[in-house]
Amino acid sequence: MTYSLKGKTALVTGASTGIGAALAEGFAARGATIGICARREDRLAEVLERIRAHAPESRSWAIDLADLDGIVGFATTVEAELGGVDILVNNAGIPKRRHVTRLDPETVESVMRINYFSPVRLTLALLPGLIERGGRIVNLSSVAARLGPPIEGAYAASKAAITAFSECMAVDLRDTDVQVHIVNPGVIDTELFHLPDNEPGFHSAVDALPVEAIVEPVIEMLESGAIEGYVPEWFGEVVAGKFADPNAFIAGTKAYATQVEAERS
Ligand SMILES: NC(=O)c1ccc[n+]([C@@H]2O[C@H](COP(=O)([O-])OP(=O)(O)OC[C@H]3O[C@@H](n4cnc5c(N)ncnc54)[C@H](OP(=O)(O)O)[C@@H]3O)[C@@H](O)[C@H]2O)c1
Repeated sequence: MTYSLKGKTALVTGASTGIGAALAEGFAARGATIGICARREDRLAEVLERIRAHAPESRSWAIDLADLDGIVGFATTVEAELGGVDILVNNAGIPKRRHVTRLDPETVESVMRINYFSPVRLTLALLPGLIERGGRIVNLSSVAARLGPPIEGAYAASKAAITAFSECMAVDLRDTDVQVHIVNPGVIDTELFHLPDNEPGFHSAVDALPVEAIVEPVIEMLESGAIEGYVPEWFGEVVAGKFADPNAFIAGTKAYATQVEAERS
């Protein structure tokens, strides 16, 4: 039988804006009750109002997910107030576009904290309930995890970590009804590309998709049970090409970065 969102509960992290907000609204429109969280309470309230038009029992929590010590307590609160979690969407994350020669260890660790350690803690805390309910875990990774883009060492490594964790988790959970999904967005037009403390990106060669474009592909992944998906889909072919010839791919990326820098100067 096709997987249906109707009657399910979903926790979407980082849903005050961007991809998280779009997924939360999309899931609610399909009949799921949604819990959303992020740091900005005012933005969460706006999203919650839109979600409640579809799913009145939905709710929100203001939380800094980089505070790792608070995660287990938060998971307990969510399970109690949402009545269990059927779908966990680990979406909250930050970019870090900074050249390796300007990176410091504290920055690298702070990116790992929100993009990797935090979703892993939340997943582990909710895992017993997810196993009991035959739930879904949707992890927002990135094409950066697979491609080695310029100035994204800290970010890409955090995404490669969540991708690797997700793949291994999918194998370990083979005797349960839990399914794991890795979503790799390419360039989706969100605030992520305009946040301070980031250097100019190298993504101008790719047309940004509107944020709504990610909703149907993720729902299709839930329905099909696909472990990994790219949005847009053609990034999957780019990644296949990279793995077929990593030397040529990294050489091409170096040439591209040099060309973009020359055009800027
Ligand atoms: N946009 C793309 O093209 C793209 C590409 C690849 C991967 N992704 C991934 O997709 C996910 C969503 O990104 P987006 O593009 O939608 O970016 P976004 O618009 O900047 O949204 C990021 C969300 O994460 C939340 N967040 C950040 N730090 C947090 C913290 N410490 N605690 C709680 N919430 C926090 C933000 O809310 P508050 O600021 O209110 O806390 C916001 O709701 C991220 O994991 C990102 O890496 C995006």
